Amino acid sequence: MSIDKSLYTEQIVVGLDIGTTKICAIVGKRNEFGKINILGVGKSHSDGVSRGVVVNIEKTVQAIREAVTEAEKHSGIKIEVVHVGIAGEHVRSMQHKGIITLSHPDFEIVPDDVNRLHEDMFKIATQPGTEIIHVLPQEYTVDSQAGIIDPVGMSGVRLEGNFHIVTGQTTAANNIYKCVVRAGLEVEELILEPLASSAAVLTEEEKEAGVCLVDIGGGTTDIAVFENNIIRHTAVIPFGGNIVTEDIKHGFKVMKKHAELLKQQYGSALADAVTEDVIISIPGPRDRPAKEIHRSMLAQVIQSRMEEILEFVLAEIKNSGYEDKLVAGIVVTGGGAQLAHMKQCVEYVTGIDTRIGLPGEHLASGLVDEVNFPMFATGTGLVIMGLSGTDHAPARTSSRRDATTVFQQRGGSSRSGPKISFIDKVKTWFESTLTNTGEFIE
Ligand SMILES: Nc1ncnc2c1ncn2[C@@H]1O[C@H](COP(=O)(O)OP(=O)(O)OP(=O)(O)O)[C@@H](O)[C@H]1O
Ligand SMILES: [Mg+2]
Repeated sequence: MSIDKSLYTEQIVVGLDIGTTKICAIVGKRNEFGKINILGVGKSHSDGVSRGVVVNIEKTVQAIREAVTEAEKHSGIKIEVVHVGIAGEHVRSMQHKGIITLSHPDFEIVPDDVNRLHEDMFKIATQPGTEIIHVLPQEYTVDSQAGIIDPVGMSGVRLEGNFHIVTGQTTAANNIYKCVVRAGLEVEELILEPLASSAAVLTEEEKEAGVCLVDIGGGTTDIAVFENNIIRHTAVIPFGGNIVTEDIKHGFKVMKKHAELLKQQYGSALADAVTEDVIISIPGPRDRPAKEIHRSMLAQVIQSRMEEILEFVLAEIKNSGYEDKLVAGIVVTGGGAQLAHMKQCVEYVTGIDTRIGLPGEHLASGLVDEVNFPMFATGTGLVIMGLSGTDHAPARTSSRRDATTVFQQRGGSSRSGPKISFIDKVKTWFESTLTNTGEFIE
């Protein structure tokens, strides 16, 4: 295969979101105006991940291969290096302060001084079996002057920095590496999933004003609080949409696939919003009679679990100390945000103004429509963060990797190549489902 050398310099990034319900690979690059183009998307069913953590290597490797192969076909790009998300209950965050004395008070603070302070943070002791995933600078103090975002160029004898440090279990991170490597890929960096989702759906104004990102996935609900353009708090709650499906399954004694369809087609996060109480008929297993389910009761089951998850979210917001500073409110994304009346439910539980975040907001062109669903917030955000280079201060400059970001144009295929989009399938599926007073689930 001949390699087009010009592509070595082309900044193409692949985000790999290893989620609890789906794995997706998104290929993106900056266009000539600095905006992001999405070149291809691949998605597969995830069966080896539980609550955001890899629990079955083989199944996960297989699903990564499927998603990546689809993204390669879609984009015409041979994928070799990926930016991968990490989440799960094991993720912890803390604040830490670092201080260095500057030996040249007459001179200006140089980037090396700031880097030294940053590097020092990697040496702090973490819980046994955990490691640092991100060291995110918040603000600096030069001598007695606090609240400095960029101290480079200032004079002083003492440089102090506040950092938001994210740690995760080493085994969880290693299992991600193992899966990606076994799938024939290289990990460029691990990125905390709520940070990636934030990059995809939050605006700079919101981050400046004060905002809480809530990504409701299948297995986890991820949180990131920003204020004054600084990351203030991150958290991962080990519950998401899957537990709602489980409640429907057990509550109405239906099969899991029917519970998921019920939730997606007829579900609501707010029982009061269900004005038309349709009765939905679910076929019984084998020759058993069909079950009849009231839409209003379905909404009650969903709402009670969503309220519980959102109480955890509210507790995290309070815990962050920024409850009263969220001028831009809450932005909810992730597949769970696709549940009907989710915005209203979040506002009802938290009392905080809420909007649904779509990842298409920061994209220029390309396959924007294909990724413009809340469930692709993390994958799209991984591309955005990968393309923004060191802006987000990646921590894991891992010795386990030896990454060279080289992409090769797939011989014979092109970016206008086969449009075998799963989104088309999703759209067809949505269109073919009963939308309002439909009464049967096949
Ligand atoms: N239309 C919909 N209505 C209600 N829920 C939906 C809808 N579409 C997707 N979901 C739910 O979204 C969840 C999956 O979201 P997402 O794809 O963001 O999760 P994930 O990234 O695979 O998991 P995680 O981030 O927790 O590891 C599932 O629980 C699914 O039921
Ligand atoms: Mg997710």
